[in-house]
Parts: sequence; structure tokens; C-alpha cells
Amino acid sequence: MNIRLEHSQDYREVENLTREAFWNVYRPGCTEHYVLNQYRSNPDFIPELDLVMEEDDRIIGHVMFSKAAITLDDGTVFPSWTFGPISIHPDYKRKGYGLKLLNHALGKARAMGIGLLQMEGNIDFYRHAGFGLASRLHIHYHAEPRDAEVPYFLAQELISGYWGDREGTYCPPKGYFVADENPDAFKAYESTFPPKEKLRLPGQLV
Ligand SMILES: CC(C)(COP(=O)(O)OP(=O)(O)OC[C@H]1O[C@@H](n2cnc3c(N)ncnc32)[C@H](O)[C@@H]1OP(=O)(O)O)[C@@H](O)C(=O)NCCC(=O)NCCS
Repeated sequence: MNIRLEHSQDYREVENLTREAFWNVYRPGCTEHYVLNQYRSNPDFIPELDLVMEEDDRIIGHVMFSKAAITLDDGTVFPSWTFGPISIHPDYKRKGYGLKLLNHALGKARAMGIGLLQMEGNIDFYRHAGFGLASRLHIHYHAEPRDAEVPYFLAQELISGYWGDREGTYCPPKGYFVADENPDAFKAYESTFPPKEKLRLPGQLV
């Protein structure tokens, strides 16, 4: 198993991997591969943390990170970071690869001075990499009531004391909404992939 930076020659393979990993998981079909496709040219994208995992002479995993921000209660914008999509190919899920890739990326992020991460995700996976509910750090989620303990909104201080006892509200960077904001462009992009059946399955979010 090897983890390395993504190269431009990998783009299509990695977007296809992202599509395979997310397909029908959170909704019928998925949009995460388009988010990745568009994000690489976004100034918030962090190329040093655009990582692929190789096994059996193929790419089986990928993760990307982004600059983000938290609006403090006094209105100040506090620099923060987020990550995702993170993908492990369906053939390799639940074998420990996702956690290895994430922990490798978190170590690199910390060494780069990234002090705080927050994102939406399943605590059952992310707690193994040190994440907890963001509400415990008094970070609120823009789309939920301020005092809600949001089970899918997670955070971790990578550098102790970076966040301290601040309080604020997080909204994901605009780049993550690209498919919803440009449905025709997304549809055109999606049509360049082999057809896959969209299914409504139990456990999806929408
Ligand atoms: C989520 C994902 C990256 C996890 O990678 P993975 O290699 O499958 O996970 P790991 O084997 O490293 O999991 C480590 C532990 O995390 C937990 N875990 C992982 N995936 C989980 C899931 N879907 N539900 C509940 N717990 C999970 C388990 O405790 C697991 O240990 P176990 O298999 O011994 O029980 C991968 O499954 C994936 O690509 N999923 C589809 C896309 C996705 O959901 N990405 C994350 C969006 S927030």
C-alpha cells in the first residue's frame, strides 16, 4: 500500500473512484466526483493534501482538503480547514484502508500548521481518527439550530489550543455546493461516465 500526491494523469481515475465510492450511499446517485473535478481549480483547494492511495497496482483511495472558515460570535472570520470527499473503492471498504489514508493525511495536515478541521460525516468512522461532535468545541452548524447537538457535524483540533474557548458557526465552503448550483453543468459532466442505476436505498440522507 502506498500513499502519494495525486497527479493530473490520475484525475479521471480518481473522479471515477469517487463516483464508485459514493454512488447511492447518501442519495440516489452522487455528486461528489463533480465537487472534486471543480475543486482542483478553486483557490481553497490544498494541493499538498490531495492524496491517493495505491494497492494492487491501482488507485483505491483518495482524499482532498480545503481551506474553510468559522464565523465567530463577534463577527470575526476565523481561519479553519475541512476535508472531503474521502473515498475508498467499494472492493476495498472496511479493511482499514480509509483510516490509514485519513490518519496519514491528518499527520501531514498537522505538520503544515492546520490547527482545526470540521466536516459532516459518520462519527462511527471518524471517531477512530480523533474526531468528536463539533458542538463539544462550541462550533455550530449553519443549517441547524444553534444549540443542537448535531450528530453528523464533527470537528477536531489538530494543534492543541488552536481553537481554544472560542464559539462560532461553520458553513461549508461554496465549492462543496457546486453541483446544486450548476445542475446543467453537473448533468453534462455526469453524462461522460458509464451509466449507473440510481437507487433509493434505506439509510440515504435524502
Ligand atoms: C467512509 C470510508 C472512507 C471508510 O473507509 P473504509 O476503508 O471503508 O473504513 P475502515 O475499514 O478504515 O474503517 C475503520 C472503522 O471505522 C468504522 N466504519 C467505517 N465505515 C463505516 C460505516 N460506513 N459505518 C459505520 N462505521 C464505519 C468501523 O468501526 C471500522 O472498523 P471495522 O470495519 O473493524 O468495524 C469508505 O467506506 C468510503 O469510501 N465510503 C463511501 C464514501 C463515504 O462515505 N465517504 C465519507 C463521507 S463523510
